[in-house]
Amino acid sequence: MPSVYIKTYGCQMNERDSEAVAAQLEAKGYTLAPSEAGADVILLNTCSVRDFAEQKALNKMVNVIAETRRNRPDVVLGFMGCMAQSRGQELIDRLPDVDLVLGTQKFHRAADYLEELLAGRREKIVDVAAERGSEATIREHLPNGSAKKSVTAFVSIMQGCNQYCTFCIVPYTRGEERSRTIPDIVAECRQLVSQGVREITLLGQIVTSYGKRGNVSLAPRGTSGERGRVTGNVENRLLTPALSSFGEEREKTPFVQLLDAVHEIEGLERIRFTSPHPKGYGDDLIEAYARLPRLVEHAHLPVQSGSDRVLKLMHRGYTRTRYVGIIEKLRRAKPDIGISTDIIVGFPGETEDDFEQTLSLAREVEFDQAYIFKYSQRRDTPAAEMPDQIPQKIRADRNQRLLEVINEIAKRRYGAFVGRQTQILVEGPSKKNPARMTGRTRCNKIVVFDGSERHRGQLMDVKITRAGSFTLYGDPAILGED
Ligand code: 5AD
Repeated sequence: MPSVYIKTYGCQMNERDSEAVAAQLEAKGYTLAPSEAGADVILLNTCSVRDFAEQKALNKMVNVIAETRRNRPDVVLGFMGCMAQSRGQELIDRLPDVDLVLGTQKFHRAADYLEELLAGRREKIVDVAAERGSEATIREHLPNGSAKKSVTAFVSIMQGCNQYCTFCIVPYTRGEERSRTIPDIVAECRQLVSQGVREITLLGQIVTSYGKRGNVSLAPRGTSGERGRVTGNVENRLLTPALSSFGEEREKTPFVQLLDAVHEIEGLERIRFTSPHPKGYGDDLIEAYARLPRLVEHAHLPVQSGSDRVLKLMHRGYTRTRYVGIIEKLRRAKPDIGISTDIIVGFPGETEDDFEQTLSLAREVEFDQAYIFKYSQRRDTPAAEMPDQIPQKIRADRNQRLLEVINEIAKRRYGAFVGRQTQILVEGPSKKNPARMTGRTRCNKIVVFDGSERHRGQLMDVKITRAGSFTLYGDPAILGED
């Protein structure tokens, strides 16, 4: 059987999609190659969110073509994911050696298409069409070899985005928002837990919009589900009111209902999710942190800018005051919560004053971690056509200035852990130094310590001895049972 190598660019959603494709191909008998050398099929799962990500994948393909075409002309080469979706046929016009272009709603067709290409029945395949129900097809996980048991897993709960932030290409690459059903997601989580997974991260472009679209039925596919109806033992929860801060009774949002349902899975130790949106961040979600012990104290809440004027131009749908208010409530519910964010600098029309408001927001909120992005013009997005595009030099300069503030705050916040004892879930050997192990605190900080394979998958207490750049170093305080 052929071997396949998949290289992934971009976000956790892409990692998850690649894993689902790999699992699908492995089930058909493919072997998974550790690199492109010698692989019969080479797939690049691409990202379009910034131009840099697209250029990286394009350059990689040019190199792969140069390496393979001379000596191994039969190797099948493909692009899949976001850039495949947004560029389609154009990719083959530009790089005629590419055989397959697979869009974001077609991952489940990978095995069929590869078979046709490998058998020579078709020469080129481009499929970037929309497909109803494709949100429920990202479900296969790679079976765990016993030696390398996965401790953590991603579960895709929805696809697409309807927010249309003016800078963002995602609504065009991922399509309309579509959610899987609660029973379907819970079944996948249960399966993972039965294989030894202890921490699950629920994934979606905007998880706080989960189940909100009018055309979404939460009943399993194939049943006569009404709009928004929840079936099975989850049904009752629709009737369980959550108390809002005003004391009135209110229904829980579908996302919080999903958290409740996943939280009941026996053996699951930790639940995370990414990413929520400030617009849909209701009090029921804040209360969930206080109520659900397995929902760990971490929130990745993208803010993008500290200036209300820029937030409006970005079409974000909230103000700085609203954002800060959410953070305050989260910290009131969970004082140790870790807060991370995404920030864009150099959005069209961003003045020095706007940028300084972003700096002041960073100081006010004191993020534990922030991912800073220089604004990148994306095709067909409204912001790409806006006046006052900011010169690259100013984008780079603001990036640097914000980075300094973020790093200084993070240094203080990470430093505050030194001397404290904290719980980690051990994930595996450290990438930088495989002789050491890494785990994560509940608040999402990476802890490196001297340990061994036998600690993998354990929840253990470590004493923090040192803080590095976005990393803590620890000493096991209690070495579990063994
Ligand atoms: N330019 C720069 N950064 C962007 N992001 C999304 N679109 C762009 C763009 N056009 C950033 C946002 C988002 C993160 C995943 O990528 O901060 O939250």
